[in-house]
Amino acid sequence: MSQPEVRIYEVGPRDGLQAEAAVVPLGDKLRFCDLLADAGLRAIEATSFVSPKAIPQLADADELMARLDRRPGVRYSALVPNVRGLERAETAGMDAICVFTAATESYAQHNINMSIAQSLAAFAPVVATARERGWWVRAYVSTAFGCPYEGEVSERAVVEVSHALLALGVDELGISDTVGAAGPSDVRRVLGALRGAGIGADAIGLHFHDTRGTALANVMTALELGFRTFDASTGGTGGSPFAPGSAGNLATEDLVYLLDREGLRHGVDLEGVLAAARFIAGPLGRPLSSKVGRAGGWPTG
Ligand code: COA
Ligand code: ZN
Repeated sequence: MSQPEVRIYEVGPRDGLQAEAAVVPLGDKLRFCDLLADAGLRAIEATSFVSPKAIPQLADADELMARLDRRPGVRYSALVPNVRGLERAETAGMDAICVFTAATESYAQHNINMSIAQSLAAFAPVVATARERGWWVRAYVSTAFGCPYEGEVSERAVVEVSHALLALGVDELGISDTVGAAGPSDVRRVLGALRGAGIGADAIGLHFHDTRGTALANVMTALELGFRTFDASTGGTGGSPFAPGSAGNLATEDLVYLLDREGLRHGVDLEGVLAAARFIAGPLGRPLSSKVGRAGGWPTG
C-alpha cells in the first residue's frame, strides 16, 4: 500500500479521557484502544505516567499498558513528566514517550509545577535515557497559540522552547493550541517562525483544539504550508484540566472526513473511527460533540 500523505496521531485515550469528568473503567479504555487500532490508527497516545493526584482519570496507566493488546505496526505512546514516569514507562514496556512543557511560564507552572527552564532540566535525563534505548520521543509545547493565564503568546517564545527541546534530542514537537484560540493567520505566523528558525514540517505534529471551531481551518492552513502530522481525539473528547474552557480536541472523525474529501491518504477508516467514538460516548455518559459524529459521513448509506 502507498505511504500515507497525512499522519493522524490519536490522542483520545490520553488527552481525551484525562479531562473528562467521568473516569472511564479500564475495560472500556482497552476496548476503546482496540477499536482505534481496528480503525487503522497507527499512532495512539494511550495514557500518561504522571502523578495520579494530578490526573486521576489516568491512574490506571500501568495496568492499561500491561493488559493492552498491542497491535503490530501501531505505535503506542504515553506522557512521561519525570524520571519516575520514565521508570513506569519502562516497566510497562513502552518504546514511545512524550515529555511536555509550555511556551508560557504560568502554564508550565500550573501543569507540571515547574518553570520552563526547570522542565527542560527535568526532561534532559528522561530524553537521554529514552534515546539510549532507541525509543521514539515527542515533546509537547503547550500554549503555543494562547495561554489561559497569559493571553496571547509570541512566536518567539514557541521557537525558543522548541529549539531547546530539539537540542535534547526529541524526534518530534507537538505544537499545541491548548486553549483552542488559533486561527489560520496564527498558524501561518507560528509555523512561519518555526520554519524560519530551521524547524520544519518533519519535526512537527500539530495539536489543535476545536474549542472555538477553528481547528479544521487551522489544519487546512497547515496542510497548505506542507505540514503532515495532526493530532486528533476520537469523539472530540478532551481538553486539559489546567486550561479552563479548553474542552474539545479536534475530533478524529471530523479530521478524517476532511482529509477524505480532500483526497489525502491517511489510512484511517471513517466508519471505524465513528464506531470507536460511539463506543466511548457510552462510558462518558454524554453525546458526541463532533460534527461528523452527529451527522455521519457522506454520501450516506
Ligand atoms: N508517577 C506517579 N506518581 C508521581 C510521578 C509519576 N511520574 N511523579 C510524581 N509522583 C507523585 C510523587 O510520588 C508524589 O506523591 P506523594 O504526594 O504521595 O509523595 C506526588 O506525585 C508529587 O510529586 P512531586 O515530585 O512533588 O511533584 P509535583 O507535585 O511538583 O508534581 C508532576 C509534578 C509533573 C509530577 C505533576 O504536576 C504531574 O504529574 N503533572 C501532569 C499534569 C498533566 O498530565 N497534565 C496534562 C497533560 S498536558
Ligand atoms: Zn490537548
